[in-house]
Amino acid sequence: MYRTKTCGELRIADVNQTVTLAGWVQRIRKMGGMTFIDLRDRYGITQLAFNQGTTAFDKANTLGREYVLQVTGKVIERQSKNAQLPTGEIEIEVSEMNVLNPALTPPFTIEDDTDGGDDLRMKYRYLDLRRTAVRKNLELRHKMAFEVRRYLDQQGFLEVETPVLVNSTPEGARDFVVPSRMNPGTFYALPQSPQTLKQLLMVSGFDRYFQIVKCFRDEDLRADRQPEFTQIDCEMSFVEQEDILQMFEGMTRHLFKSILNIDLPALPRMTWADAMKYYGSDKPDTRFDMRFVELQDLFHSIEEQKAENERFGVFASAAYIGGICAKGQAVYTRKQLDALTEFVRRPQVGAKGMVYARVEQDGTVKSSIDKFYTQDQLQAVARQMNAEAGDLILILSGDDAMKTRKQLSELRLEMARQMGLRDPKKFSCLWVIDFPMYEWSDEEQRLMAMHHPFTSPKPEDIPMLDTDPASVRANAYDMVINGVEVGGGSIRIHDAGLQEKIFEVLGFTPEQAQQKFGFLMNAFKYGAPPHGGLAYGLDRFVSLFAGLDSIRDCIAFPKNNQGKDVMLGAPSVIDQIQLDELKIDIRNSQ
Ligand code: AMO
Repeated sequence: MYRTKTCGELRIADVNQTVTLAGWVQRIRKMGGMTFIDLRDRYGITQLAFNQGTTAFDKANTLGREYVLQVTGKVIERQSKNAQLPTGEIEIEVSEMNVLNPALTPPFTIEDDTDGGDDLRMKYRYLDLRRTAVRKNLELRHKMAFEVRRYLDQQGFLEVETPVLVNSTPEGARDFVVPSRMNPGTFYALPQSPQTLKQLLMVSGFDRYFQIVKCFRDEDLRADRQPEFTQIDCEMSFVEQEDILQMFEGMTRHLFKSILNIDLPALPRMTWADAMKYYGSDKPDTRFDMRFVELQDLFHSIEEQKAENERFGVFASAAYIGGICAKGQAVYTRKQLDALTEFVRRPQVGAKGMVYARVEQDGTVKSSIDKFYTQDQLQAVARQMNAEAGDLILILSGDDAMKTRKQLSELRLEMARQMGLRDPKKFSCLWVIDFPMYEWSDEEQRLMAMHHPFTSPKPEDIPMLDTDPASVRANAYDMVINGVEVGGGSIRIHDAGLQEKIFEVLGFTPEQAQQKFGFLMNAFKYGAPPHGGLAYGLDRFVSLFAGLDSIRDCIAFPKNNQGKDVMLGAPSVIDQIQLDELKIDIRNSQ
């Protein structure tokens, strides 16, 4: 037997037992006649004590960090106890030691506070994973996946695996493709999600399906995006939107309770239109308020009363003017306000400028637009904003209401960050519902499906498909936690005729639609039940529970921002022989 106990389990009650432990050397401290070693494994750290004069002592002094050891000794009470460690009351008086494997000195310290930069830690990810902080995230991930399975199994869901070598599945990103050797010139696409397959399982009568499944999307990477990520993918038959919202609110509640011991209140629901109006985002962070207040009507009526040459041109002509009120922040200095202005002017945000107004302790309003407005007019603005003495008002304006709202949303989030309102230990969940069916793509110059093309329009909006498709709302919903879209789904179209119509609005000819999605539309002709579902991003869910900003550290082997695995050296060039077999000629493109 390599060990009788782990490095995390011995307590004061175990004193006098003789035990064998195995693990890695975390730290060595030589103190005259004694040498102490912290021995680490997945379960914890146990202190080993070596007394001068023993053979184990001599050996201990030759060890280095991360050596793999097996030690046998007696559990004794420690003289100086460590309250930070669960095993901190005991140590092992080592009588026998066996070096199972020496180790090179690791390129960074394997401690919670490591000296290793991001790149180095990614290159040696297997060492990074020895760190408690990273390992804990993977333990959390395991627990969450386990509780998801427990809940869904109890609700009668079947986990069914779907293939990875498929055709393009339209979720709006680029596909990763795999060349087929047996069918030269043709390619599989890796699934962006199992969307069409799970719908086919509904046609097959599976009724309740789920799968914790890898999905692949070739898109620009961000903190909450990886090219391969994991979905908790679900689908149900004979359901309406309400059934799905209830079922998955239940799952979310189960996760919060079983993992974090939090009793989640009922999830509020917000229409997409309200989310955009009040937060400028379809994934509002509702841990704090600072809702937008629209000011264009007020400013336009003030401007109309003024002589032409006294007008503040920016506001007089703006289609949209919106403000947020930062409670108690009138103390912001000119320098801080200039920095905020710089923030909104960054190309990523794209505003032209920012107007601010402080409500002083005596109630007077001092603003960056004092010369254009009287105190009375500024007071009216403060009233509309619900601002009180000590508050700071920040205002953005623009010709495109949607674009300006998105800029104001960035400002709101930045302000909340500066005010410490984005507390990762606090959770605020909601459903965003009634998404539009379509959104305009400047790049493609056409309407695109906002969710995906299998999403059902709201029945009452179907007549508008011909007259005003951009206003048609979908039976689609997202679950948002702390400003992160953790999941989303929709009620699907189960009628082949309506599906054809939707493809038509999306600009597919009947032939193109048949060629791409004929398999699904044909299947619908054989008795498709009404159905709907959703998918959660497991990585995002775990990172929220772990309080992390990025999903990377809850993935064992993530890709970097260039989509590379620097540890494996993937992606990489392949042998000419392999290319020849695949009949792929890249010589001209290199
Ligand atoms: P959607 O595209 O909204 O829906 O994806 C569902 C959820 O998956 C997560 N997610 C990602 N996580 C990490 N990296 C990515 N690149 C990434 N892309 C998406 C998000 C998102 O909410 N088939 C539909 C679901 C359905 O209609 O049932 C779908 O894939 O948390």
